[in-house]
Amino acid sequence: MIKIAPSILSADFANLERDIRRVSTADYLHVDVMDGVFVPNISIGLPVVESIRKVTDLPLDVHLMIVEPVRYVERFCDAGADLVTVHLEADTEANTHAAIAKIHARGKRAGVVLKPKTPAEAVLPFLEEVELILVMTVEPGFGGQKFMADQMGKVSQIRRWIDERNPACELEVDGGVAPDTCRTCIDAGANVLVAGSAVYKAEDIPARIAQLRG
Ligand code: DX5
Ligand code: ZN
Repeated sequence: MIKIAPSILSADFANLERDIRRVSTADYLHVDVMDGVFVPNISIGLPVVESIRKVTDLPLDVHLMIVEPVRYVERFCDAGADLVTVHLEADTEANTHAAIAKIHARGKRAGVVLKPKTPAEAVLPFLEEVELILVMTVEPGFGGQKFMADQMGKVSQIRRWIDERNPACELEVDGGVAPDTCRTCIDAGANVLVAGSAVYKAEDIPARIAQLRG
């Protein structure tokens, strides 16, 4: 089954609890953490994750767009993340292995993320170690950008490797996912779709979430 992870980056932060309740039919809640260094934007951090944890039972999918995420992964786990993803471009290979190990030591699920220019092969050292791989379909940093269809070859390639070597691993896409682009993501092999603006701009949010499942 296709899972939907609404991104609260498109929510009204002054009404965050209300906007989290509006997506209660989804499968994950996607939380974008940005440090203004790894990406040219600053969003939310640890105290907000802690507060969100208290108002929802949805699994929290925390997408860390920060440099050297190994420094912070344990604190995000303790704040209530269920799944923590780290960018392959944000640190050395050794530190990415260390970040994954720290997340697992906290009993949480770990994932790695690829920016659009990062080749599929970059996941190979981590393929058997992670519970999720996230392929960005926009340059990370902002919601509401145009979907990059040219990332679908990467999604298909990683889907083949997952099926061969770690079939329980989930494959997520993030950026520009909407009713007109969800089918191509699913056909390429993604099973978790992040959607920010497509969910929060919808008149009927539960209907939009159902529509994005394909
Ligand atoms: C972008 C974030 C996304 C963003 C997606 O850096 O990682 O999660 O919220 O927003 P949409 O779905 O509007 O492209
Ligand atoms: Zn994200």
